[in-house]
This record gives sequence, structure tokens and C-alpha cells, in this order.
Amino acid sequence: MVPDAAALITAAAAEFCRCAEAAIAARGRFAVALAGGNTPRGVYAQLAAEKNSPPWDKIHIFFGDERHVPPDDPQSNYRMARESLLSKAPIPEANVHRIRAELPAPEAAAQYEADLRSFFGLSAGIWPRFDLILLGIGECGHTASLFPSTAGLQEESRLVIANWVEKFASYRITFTFPVLNHASEIVFMVSGNGKAQILKEIFTAPKGSYPAQTVQPEKGKLLWIADKDAAGLVT
Ligand code: 6PG
Repeated sequence: MVPDAAALITAAAAEFCRCAEAAIAARGRFAVALAGGNTPRGVYAQLAAEKNSPPWDKIHIFFGDERHVPPDDPQSNYRMARESLLSKAPIPEANVHRIRAELPAPEAAAQYEADLRSFFGLSAGIWPRFDLILLGIGECGHTASLFPSTAGLQEESRLVIANWVEKFASYRITFTFPVLNHASEIVFMVSGNGKAQILKEIFTAPKGSYPAQTVQPEKGKLLWIADKDAAGLVT
């Protein structure tokens, strides 16, 4: 737990840089998947402003999920990341792996899966191992775009799917649980008292009650960074 939203931004940015340094030292590159929504915006802006910025030319940026909208849409996670980080840090364009959510959703998902398979050099049945995946949670307990009562919760073979979300009457393109759970590290960023109830539920309700509970990296680290308002009912 951190005192407030500003401390959350600092802690998450520091963890990003720590993971980047370790991955680049070990493998010469850092593969990270960004979270969408609003909470990460400040983290991305902080990273773009970092004095000792990580070596952006060795960093590959992916997206854990995307809304089914074009890249300039106000709802676009890519747009949020572009405005807060990608347009401000010297990240080579080839290192930004965007979900082409302007395409029909199943096609966008299949294309992104192919991008992941070629980037990680995967053969059939092998999962990618991201160095870091950033995630948030929604008040319904969803994470990435794995919402309660959606088909995507059951997916066990594909890396990326078009997940129909009834409450939005729209698809979302999202990583599946196996991709999340094969990561070296997952960092959840949770801010504000609007998330206090669901965070308490995620930590106390029986497993399987909320999608975010299914995120348990098999051979990786799971870190929750929550500010005092969000964690108020947990501690
Ligand atoms: C999205 C996200 C989603 C997000 C949560 C929390 O596309 O919306 O990837 O999983 O992390 O909805 O969003 P906030 O940070 O805006 O509360």
C-alpha cells in the first residue's frame, strides 16, 4: 500500500524501470504490456519524464487489451498511451506493437496473436513470457478486458481474443489468462476509494468469484500497488 495516487505513480514507474533494467541486462530487451483505463496515465507520463530514462530503444511496448475503436478514438487505450508516453519518449515506432482495433474484432485479435507469436518466436502450444504486464481492475472485478460472465474467461488455447462484453454491447480485444499467467511479473495498479470494495472482495471472496483473482503467474511475481483509499478495506 502507498499513501496516495502520486505515490502509486512513483512506485509503479520505479517498478517498470527496475524490470526493464533487469530484462535488458539478461536478454537485451524488455517486453512489457501496458494497461488501459485511466489509472496508468500518470505512470506513463512519469516514465516519459524520467531523468534517468530507461533505454527506450530496447523496450517493446504491447497492450494487454483494447477497446474496439480506432486509434484516435477518445476511448482508445493506444491513444491514452500515445498522449502520455509514446509521443513523449524516444521509443522507436517499430517497438510499439499496437492492437489494430479499427479492424473487425476477431481479425484484430488474430493479427495481434500473430504479432506476439512472431515477436516471441513461439511454436505451437508455447506461451509468450512477458517481462512485465501492467494491469488494473474494474469495479466489477474485471482485469484487462476479461469481464465477469464473458466467454473469454474460459479461453485456454489462444493468446488474444475478441471478447464480447454485453454491458458495452461491444467486443474488447484482450490477452487471455494463460498469457497473463505466463508473465515474469504482473503489477496491478489500483487507485481511489471507488475500488476499495472490489479490492477487499478480490482478497477475501472465494477464488473464481472475480476475474482478477485468476491472475496468478505460474513462475512469476505478482505485485499489487494500491493507494490508501483503494486499500482502505483490505488492511
Ligand atoms: C480497459 C482496461 C481495464 C482497466 C480497468 C480499470 O481497457 O479499461 O484495460 O482493465 O484497467 O477498467 O480502469 P481505470 O484505471 O480507468 O479505473
